[in-house]
Amino acid sequence: MDLETVMERAGPREFGPGDELPEKYRKAATRMIQFHANSEVMGGYLDKTFTRKAPSLDRKLANTAKVQDEIGHAQLLYRAAETLDVKTRAEMLDELATGEGKFLNCFHYPVDSWYEAPMIDFFVDGGAMRRQATLKSTSWTPYAHAMDKVCFEEGFHVKHGESILRELMNGSKATQERMQETFDVWWPRILQFFGPTNDESVHDDFAQAVGLKTATNDELRTSFLNMYIPKAEKYGLEIPEYPRIYERDDGTMAVREDDLDWKEFWTISRNEYEGSTEQIGSRRRRQDAVEWVRESLETWESSAGPTPQTAD
Ligand SMILES: [Fe+2]
Ligand SMILES: [Fe+2]
Repeated sequence: MDLETVMERAGPREFGPGDELPEKYRKAATRMIQFHANSEVMGGYLDKTFTRKAPSLDRKLANTAKVQDEIGHAQLLYRAAETLDVKTRAEMLDELATGEGKFLNCFHYPVDSWYEAPMIDFFVDGGAMRRQATLKSTSWTPYAHAMDKVCFEEGFHVKHGESILRELMNGSKATQERMQETFDVWWPRILQFFGPTNDESVHDDFAQAVGLKTATNDELRTSFLNMYIPKAEKYGLEIPEYPRIYERDDGTMAVREDDLDWKEFWTISRNEYEGSTEQIGSRRRRQDAVEWVRESLETWESSAGPTPQTAD
């Protein structure tokens, strides 16, 4: 199939492994799904730190389940990316460990307090939900299938984060103030999660033209703001003065993008932020720690041959 035909046919779940697709499409889809899979791994790693900090056994159990979900999402997505025949799962994991692989801005910042749990679990996952819901209609069918399961589980994550936020905002005055301070720090990062309206990246236009991406950065951020500003205010959080939020003529909310630190955002997107080195290094150490499992499996596979099939 040539690129022109791909653009003409582009639509929800239009293409799959049975189609012969141009390299440009397969590479763009791989790039997008790999970024998503990497973000699931790195988000899960950040979230893992909350298990120790969680104040009760129930919270620890719920957090552990959430981390398992995130790593599961990553596995599903690496497999969905592999169906494009561009890179293997092992190659993508290696790229993440060496710092070549990219992932979402919010997961480059270190976390060190329980107050940050609702920032990731409620607001970042809430933002991710906005984006992922639109990806159920992506043109690469294995990616859309993965989104069915991912979105179902993200619904639980957001409820989990909301429950922590509600509990903390019903705490003492000092707890509420601490929560507000944490929110002030995270709010601009969360708004940048969607990227700038006029993305400098050339990848986006192509991804939309071939149906891989179905909503713009601006549409996603607006949809997030309209849904999450009322939610934040409902629990008693004040939306910071900067970056300025304004209402458009059509009644939707938007942010004054010049109020956001895009220099930091682009440094992060190149994996050059000070926190990036720490997070990627931590990922690499964990990957190295289980290298012996991979080696043992490879040795076993080459000596034992294919797994025997059970008779019916
Ligand atoms: Fe996830
Ligand atoms: Fe999640």
